[in-house]
Amino acid sequence: EKRNGNSANQIFWSIVSFLRRCLFLVICACPIPHHIAFIMDGNRRYAKKQKLMEGTGHRVGFVALMSMLKYCYELGVRYVTIYAFSIENFKRQPEEVQSLMDLMQEKIEGLIKEESIVNRYGVKVHFIGNLKLLSEPVRLAAERAMVATANNSRGVLSICIAYTSTDEIVHAVQESCEEKWNEISALNASGAGYGLDKFGGNEKDERENIVKLTDIERHMYMAVAPDPDILIRTSGETRLSNFLLWQSAYCCLYCPSVLWPEIGFRHFVWAILNFQCNRLYLERKKKQS
Ligand code: FPP
Ligand code: MG
Repeated sequence: EKRNGNSANQIFWSIVSFLRRCLFLVICACPIPHHIAFIMDGNRRYAKKQKLMEGTGHRVGFVALMSMLKYCYELGVRYVTIYAFSIENFKRQPEEVQSLMDLMQEKIEGLIKEESIVNRYGVKVHFIGNLKLLSEPVRLAAERAMVATANNSRGVLSICIAYTSTDEIVHAVQESCEEKWNEISALNASGAGYGLDKFGGNEKDERENIVKLTDIERHMYMAVAPDPDILIRTSGETRLSNFLLWQSAYCCLYCPSVLWPEIGFRHFVWAILNFQCNRLYLERKKKQS
Protein backbone atom coordinates (compact mmCIF):
# COMPACT_ATOMS: atom_id res chain seq x y z
CA GLU A 1 0.00 0.00 0.00
CA LYS A 2 2.86 2.30 0.93
CA ARG A 3 4.60 1.54 -2.40
CA ASN A 4 1.37 2.29 -4.28
CA GLY A 5 1.06 5.52 -2.32
CA ASN A 6 4.64 6.49 -3.24
CA SER A 7 4.19 5.83 -6.93
CA ALA A 8 0.87 7.72 -6.97
CA ASN A 9 2.76 10.60 -5.35
CA GLN A 10 5.49 10.40 -7.97
CA ILE A 11 2.96 10.40 -10.81
CA PHE A 12 1.20 13.40 -9.28
CA TRP A 13 4.43 15.43 -9.03
CA SER A 14 5.50 14.43 -12.57
CA ILE A 15 2.17 15.77 -13.87
CA VAL A 16 2.60 18.99 -11.83
CA SER A 17 6.12 19.43 -13.19
CA PHE A 18 4.92 18.76 -16.77
CA LEU A 19 2.11 21.33 -16.45
CA ARG A 20 4.55 23.88 -14.99
CA ARG A 21 6.89 23.43 -17.96
CA CYS A 22 3.95 23.83 -20.37
CA LEU A 23 2.98 27.09 -18.66
CA PHE A 24 6.61 28.28 -18.85
CA LEU A 25 6.60 27.60 -22.61
CA VAL A 26 3.59 29.91 -22.94
CA ILE A 27 5.20 32.58 -20.73
CA CYS A 28 8.36 32.40 -22.88
CA ALA A 29 6.35 33.79 -25.82
CA CYS A 30 7.17 37.23 -24.32
CA PRO A 31 10.69 38.22 -23.18
CA ILE A 32 11.58 36.79 -19.80
CA PRO A 33 13.57 38.73 -17.18
CA HIS A 34 17.34 38.31 -17.12
CA HIS A 35 17.63 38.98 -13.40
CA ILE A 36 15.27 38.58 -10.42
CA ALA A 37 16.13 39.77 -6.90
CA PHE A 38 14.40 38.64 -3.72
CA ILE A 39 14.03 40.18 -0.25
CA MET A 40 12.98 37.13 1.75
CA ASP A 41 11.02 38.89 4.49
CA GLY A 42 8.60 37.49 7.09
CA ASN A 43 10.35 34.31 8.30
CA ARG A 44 10.07 35.03 12.05
CA ARG A 45 6.42 36.13 11.64
CA TYR A 46 5.75 32.84 9.84
CA ALA A 47 7.22 30.84 12.75
CA LYS A 48 5.06 32.83 15.18
CA LYS A 49 1.94 32.42 13.05
CA GLN A 50 2.47 28.65 12.79
CA LYS A 51 3.50 28.39 16.48
CA LEU A 52 6.87 26.94 15.46
CA MET A 53 10.10 27.18 17.40
CA GLU A 54 12.17 30.35 16.89
CA GLY A 55 14.53 29.87 13.96
CA THR A 56 12.29 27.32 12.23
CA GLY A 57 10.83 30.12 10.09
CA HIS A 58 14.23 30.68 8.46
CA ARG A 59 14.61 26.92 7.82
CA VAL A 60 11.22 26.80 6.09
CA GLY A 61 12.28 30.00 4.31
CA PHE A 62 15.27 28.14 2.86
CA VAL A 63 12.92 25.50 1.41
CA ALA A 64 10.85 28.30 -0.20
CA LEU A 65 14.07 29.76 -1.61
CA MET A 66 14.94 26.41 -3.25
CA SER A 67 11.50 26.34 -4.96
CA MET A 68 11.93 29.90 -6.23
CA LEU A 69 15.40 29.09 -7.59
CA LYS A 70 14.00 26.02 -9.35
CA TYR A 71 11.26 28.11 -11.01
CA CYS A 72 13.76 30.80 -12.04
CA TYR A 73 16.22 28.40 -13.60
CA GLU A 74 13.50 26.28 -15.27
CA LEU A 75 12.09 29.42 -16.87
CA GLY A 76 15.58 30.43 -18.06
CA VAL A 77 16.25 33.39 -15.74
CA ARG A 78 20.04 33.59 -15.72
CA TYR A 79 20.65 35.83 -12.70
CA VAL A 80 19.09 35.52 -9.26
CA THR A 81 20.08 37.66 -6.27
CA ILE A 82 18.89 37.12 -2.70
CA TYR A 83 19.16 39.28 0.42
CA ALA A 84 20.25 36.64 2.92
CA PHE A 85 21.65 38.78 5.74
CA SER A 86 22.09 42.54 6.00
CA ILE A 87 24.77 44.35 7.98
CA GLU A 88 21.87 45.74 10.04
CA ASN A 89 20.82 42.16 10.95
CA PHE A 90 24.01 41.90 13.07
CA LYS A 91 22.17 44.18 15.56
CA ARG A 92 19.63 41.42 16.35
CA GLN A 93 19.86 39.35 19.57
CA PRO A 94 23.25 37.52 19.63
CA GLU A 95 21.49 34.10 19.90
CA GLU A 96 19.43 34.85 16.79
CA VAL A 97 22.48 36.03 14.83
CA GLN A 98 24.34 32.88 15.87
CA SER A 99 21.46 30.60 14.90
CA LEU A 100 21.13 32.35 11.50
CA MET A 101 24.87 32.04 10.92
CA ASP A 102 24.77 28.32 11.81
CA LEU A 103 21.92 27.88 9.33
CA MET A 104 23.85 29.80 6.64
CA GLN A 105 26.96 27.68 7.16
CA GLU A 106 24.97 24.43 7.00
CA LYS A 107 23.08 25.49 3.86
CA ILE A 108 26.13 26.95 2.10
CA GLU A 109 27.97 23.67 2.68
CA GLY A 110 24.92 21.88 1.22
CA LEU A 111 25.05 24.06 -1.90
CA ILE A 112 28.30 22.53 -3.10
CA LYS A 113 27.03 18.94 -2.89
CA GLU A 114 26.70 17.23 -6.24
CA GLU A 115 22.92 16.91 -6.07
CA SER A 116 22.35 20.51 -4.94
CA ILE A 117 20.21 22.88 -6.98
CA VAL A 118 23.21 24.98 -8.04
CA ASN A 119 24.98 21.97 -9.51
CA ARG A 120 21.79 20.56 -11.05
CA TYR A 121 21.23 23.81 -12.98
CA GLY A 122 24.93 24.69 -13.50
CA VAL A 123 24.84 27.86 -11.42
CA LYS A 124 27.85 29.87 -10.27
CA VAL A 125 27.51 31.21 -6.72
CA HIS A 126 28.79 34.65 -5.67
CA PHE A 127 28.73 35.93 -2.10
CA ILE A 128 28.14 39.65 -2.18
CA GLY A 129 28.90 41.98 0.71
CA ASN A 130 31.51 42.82 3.30
CA LEU A 131 32.58 39.20 3.90
CA LYS A 132 35.16 40.33 6.46
CA LEU A 133 32.25 40.86 8.89
CA LEU A 134 31.38 37.15 8.83
CA SER A 135 32.66 34.62 11.33
CA GLU A 136 35.51 32.51 9.96
CA PRO A 137 33.54 29.25 9.47
CA VAL A 138 30.83 31.04 7.44
CA ARG A 139 33.37 33.04 5.42
CA LEU A 140 35.37 29.91 4.63
CA ALA A 141 32.21 28.01 3.63
CA ALA A 142 31.27 30.93 1.33
CA GLU A 143 34.75 31.00 -0.23
CA ARG A 144 34.68 27.22 -0.76
CA ALA A 145 31.26 27.46 -2.45
CA MET A 146 32.52 30.21 -4.80
CA VAL A 147 35.55 28.13 -5.78
CA ALA A 148 33.52 24.91 -6.16
CA THR A 149 30.96 26.52 -8.50
CA ALA A 150 33.32 28.85 -10.40
CA ASN A 151 33.14 26.75 -13.57
CA ASN A 152 29.34 26.60 -13.68
CA SER A 153 28.17 28.84 -16.47
CA ARG A 154 24.42 28.44 -17.02
CA GLY A 155 23.33 30.84 -14.27
CA VAL A 156 24.54 33.10 -11.47
CA LEU A 157 23.26 33.13 -7.90
CA SER A 158 24.36 36.18 -5.90
CA ILE A 159 23.89 35.72 -2.17
CA CYS A 160 24.01 39.09 -0.38
CA ILE A 161 25.35 38.44 3.08
CA ALA A 162 26.76 41.09 5.44
CA TYR A 163 25.46 43.45 2.75
CA THR A 164 23.84 46.86 2.59
CA SER A 165 23.64 49.00 -0.49
CA THR A 166 25.20 52.03 1.21
CA ASP A 167 28.17 49.89 2.30
CA GLU A 168 28.52 48.62 -1.29
CA ILE A 169 28.51 52.19 -2.67
CA VAL A 170 31.08 53.42 -0.12
CA HIS A 171 33.27 50.40 -0.92
CA ALA A 172 33.03 51.07 -4.69
CA VAL A 173 33.86 54.79 -4.27
CA GLN A 174 36.85 53.97 -2.03
CA GLU A 175 38.15 51.37 -4.50
CA SER A 176 37.75 53.80 -7.42
CA CYS A 177 39.60 56.56 -5.55
CA GLU A 178 42.38 54.17 -4.61
CA GLU A 179 42.70 53.01 -8.21
CA LYS A 180 42.97 56.62 -9.44
CA TRP A 181 45.41 57.49 -6.66
CA ASN A 182 47.66 54.59 -7.70
CA GLU A 183 47.39 55.63 -11.36
CA ILE A 184 48.37 59.24 -10.57
CA SER A 185 51.22 58.14 -8.28
CA ALA A 186 52.58 55.84 -11.01
CA LEU A 187 52.40 58.63 -13.63
CA ASN A 188 54.09 61.10 -11.29
CA ALA A 189 56.80 58.59 -10.39
CA SER A 190 57.53 58.01 -14.10
CA GLY A 191 57.88 61.78 -14.57
CA ALA A 192 54.92 61.95 -16.99
CA GLY A 193 52.71 63.84 -14.54
CA TYR A 194 48.93 63.55 -14.64
CA GLY A 195 48.03 64.70 -18.18
CA LEU A 196 46.21 68.01 -17.82
CA ASP A 197 46.02 68.07 -21.62
CA LYS A 198 43.52 65.16 -21.42
CA PHE A 199 40.94 67.76 -20.36
CA GLY A 200 42.14 70.61 -22.55
CA GLY A 201 44.41 71.82 -19.79
CA ASN A 202 41.45 72.68 -17.57
CA GLU A 203 42.32 71.72 -14.01
CA LYS A 204 38.70 72.02 -12.77
CA ASP A 205 37.48 69.56 -15.46
CA GLU A 206 40.30 67.24 -14.55
CA ARG A 207 39.33 67.18 -10.87
CA GLU A 208 35.66 66.62 -11.69
CA ASN A 209 36.44 63.75 -14.02
CA ILE A 210 38.94 61.99 -11.87
CA VAL A 211 36.49 59.28 -10.71
CA LYS A 212 33.77 58.49 -13.23
CA LEU A 213 30.42 56.75 -12.92
CA THR A 214 31.78 53.78 -14.88
CA ASP A 215 34.67 53.43 -12.39
CA ILE A 216 32.22 53.24 -9.48
CA GLU A 217 29.97 50.76 -11.30
CA ARG A 218 32.95 48.56 -12.09
CA HIS A 219 33.82 48.35 -8.38
CA MET A 220 30.31 47.51 -7.17
CA TYR A 221 30.04 44.03 -5.65
CA MET A 222 27.03 43.55 -7.94
CA ALA A 223 29.09 44.17 -11.09
CA VAL A 224 28.80 40.37 -11.58
CA ALA A 225 25.19 40.78 -12.81
CA PRO A 226 23.11 43.19 -14.89
CA ASP A 227 20.63 45.37 -12.97
CA PRO A 228 17.59 43.38 -11.76
CA ASP A 229 14.43 43.42 -13.89
CA ILE A 230 12.20 42.35 -11.00
CA LEU A 231 12.56 42.82 -7.26
CA ILE A 232 10.23 40.75 -5.09
CA ARG A 233 9.79 41.56 -1.40
CA THR A 234 7.41 39.41 0.61
CA SER A 235 5.42 40.12 3.80
CA GLY A 236 3.66 43.19 2.37
CA GLU A 237 6.54 45.55 3.19
CA THR A 238 7.20 48.01 0.37
CA ARG A 239 10.61 49.30 1.49
CA LEU A 240 13.95 48.42 -0.14
CA SER A 241 15.73 48.21 3.26
CA ASN A 242 19.12 49.20 1.83
CA PHE A 243 19.10 46.47 -0.83
CA LEU A 244 20.35 47.13 -4.40
CA LEU A 245 19.53 50.87 -4.17
CA TRP A 246 22.01 51.69 -6.95
CA GLN A 247 20.80 48.89 -9.23
CA SER A 248 17.01 49.03 -8.83
CA ALA A 249 16.13 52.39 -10.40
CA TYR A 250 14.26 50.80 -13.33
CA CYS A 251 13.17 47.45 -12.00
CA CYS A 252 9.66 46.17 -11.54
CA LEU A 253 8.78 45.98 -7.84
CA TYR A 254 6.40 43.30 -6.61
CA CYS A 255 5.46 43.12 -2.93
CA PRO A 256 2.96 40.31 -2.23
CA SER A 257 1.52 40.22 1.28
CA VAL A 258 2.47 36.56 1.90
CA LEU A 259 5.31 35.81 4.32
CA TRP A 260 8.46 34.48 2.63
CA PRO A 261 7.98 30.78 3.58
CA GLU A 262 4.48 31.01 2.04
CA ILE A 263 5.62 32.31 -1.34
CA GLY A 264 4.52 29.98 -4.12
CA PHE A 265 4.32 29.35 -7.82
CA ARG A 266 1.38 31.72 -8.35
CA HIS A 267 3.36 34.65 -6.92
CA PHE A 268 6.27 33.82 -9.18
CA VAL A 269 4.07 33.69 -12.30
CA TRP A 270 2.31 36.92 -11.30
CA ALA A 271 5.66 38.71 -10.90
CA ILE A 272 6.75 37.58 -14.38
CA LEU A 273 3.47 38.62 -16.02
CA ASN A 274 3.64 41.98 -14.24
CA PHE A 275 7.17 42.46 -15.61
CA GLN A 276 6.10 41.49 -19.13
CA CYS A 277 3.24 44.05 -19.02
CA ASN A 278 5.53 46.88 -17.81
CA ARG A 279 8.74 45.98 -19.64
CA LEU A 280 8.45 48.37 -22.58
CA TYR A 281 7.54 51.31 -20.33
CA LEU A 282 10.51 50.64 -18.00
CA GLU A 283 12.91 50.22 -20.93
CA ARG A 284 11.75 53.55 -22.38
CA LYS A 285 12.29 55.26 -19.01
CA LYS A 286 15.77 53.73 -18.75
CA LYS A 287 16.71 54.99 -22.23
CA GLN A 288 15.45 58.49 -21.42
CA SER A 289 17.61 58.70 -18.28
C1 FPP B 1 14.32 38.04 6.86
O1 FPP B 1 13.23 37.52 7.65
C2 FPP B 1 15.25 36.95 6.44
C3 FPP B 1 16.50 36.76 6.93
C4 FPP B 1 17.13 37.68 7.91
C5 FPP B 1 17.35 35.61 6.53
C6 FPP B 1 16.72 34.66 5.53
C7 FPP B 1 17.67 33.54 5.28
C8 FPP B 1 17.31 32.35 4.75
C9 FPP B 1 15.91 32.05 4.31
C10 FPP B 1 18.36 31.29 4.56
C11 FPP B 1 19.25 31.63 3.40
C12 FPP B 1 20.41 30.72 3.37
C13 FPP B 1 21.33 30.70 2.38
C14 FPP B 1 22.47 29.79 2.46
C15 FPP B 1 21.23 31.54 1.19
P1 FPP B 1 13.06 38.11 9.11
O2 FPP B 1 14.03 37.40 10.01
O3 FPP B 1 13.26 39.61 9.02
O4 FPP B 1 11.59 37.77 9.53
P2 FPP B 1 10.49 38.84 10.03
O5 FPP B 1 10.38 39.88 8.96
O6 FPP B 1 9.23 38.03 10.19
O7 FPP B 1 10.98 39.39 11.32
MG1 MG C 1 12.00 41.25 8.49
